[in-house]
Amino acid sequence: MNSEDPRMMTPEGSAGSAPVTGYREMTLEDVPAVSAIGAESSQSPWDEKSVLTYFLREDTLFTVAEEEGRVVGFAALLMTPPESDVLDIIVKREKRCRGIGFRLLDVLCDQALLRGVDTVFLEVRPGNLPARRIYAKLGFLETGIRKNYYTDPAEDAITMVRRRNIIYVS
Ligand SMILES: CC(C)(COP(=O)(O)OP(=O)(O)OC[C@H]1O[C@@H](n2cnc3c(N)ncnc32)[C@H](O)[C@@H]1OP(=O)(O)O)[C@@H](O)C(=O)NCCC(=O)NCCS
Repeated sequence: MNSEDPRMMTPEGSAGSAPVTGYREMTLEDVPAVSAIGAESSQSPWDEKSVLTYFLREDTLFTVAEEEGRVVGFAALLMTPPESDVLDIIVKREKRCRGIGFRLLDVLCDQALLRGVDTVFLEVRPGNLPARRIYAKLGFLETGIRKNYYTDPAEDAITMVRRRNIIYVS
């Protein structure tokens, strides 16, 4: 593939240096790549066994971001329709601040909506400004503080929620 190949074009249509990012549901083949990205994040519970265990559960939903055939981020939900909890969202370190985290969560919430999930809850560390920026941009509202939610370092969590209207098409 050379730089004039349409598949290498930026969304604006010009041949740029940033590769195109695609978003899709996770498959079994993605398990090693997802756990490798999880391992980049401190205190991550996402070793290969736990990724596989959660992936195989019927009440979870994973979305991955992919560039040039490589997974560069993932987001996961635990679903109890019509409600759900964000399990995690992690973008590969060198791919951050390009809008991938925002899009991942947006796509994940859209996929969840198709499964009858209209309410998404999450917790976030007060100091996690990139994550809080994404949640605010997606319309999540702060609902309170969960005392001593996090360990290592011990910290309270900010709790947030986003509610949407499900449109049923007959
Ligand atoms: C949180 C995370 C997923 C964000 O991924 P990302 O692809 O960088 O996110 P985006 O590029 O879509 O958005 C990040 C936003 O934070 C902003 N940002 C980045 N660093 C910031 C900082 N120090 N202070 C304030 N805002 C900051 C960016 O400018 C961007 O906002 P903008 O689009 O309005 O400019 C990524 O940082 C990550 O994997 N962190 C480790 C895991 C984690 O903390 N997950 C969240 C668990 S609650």
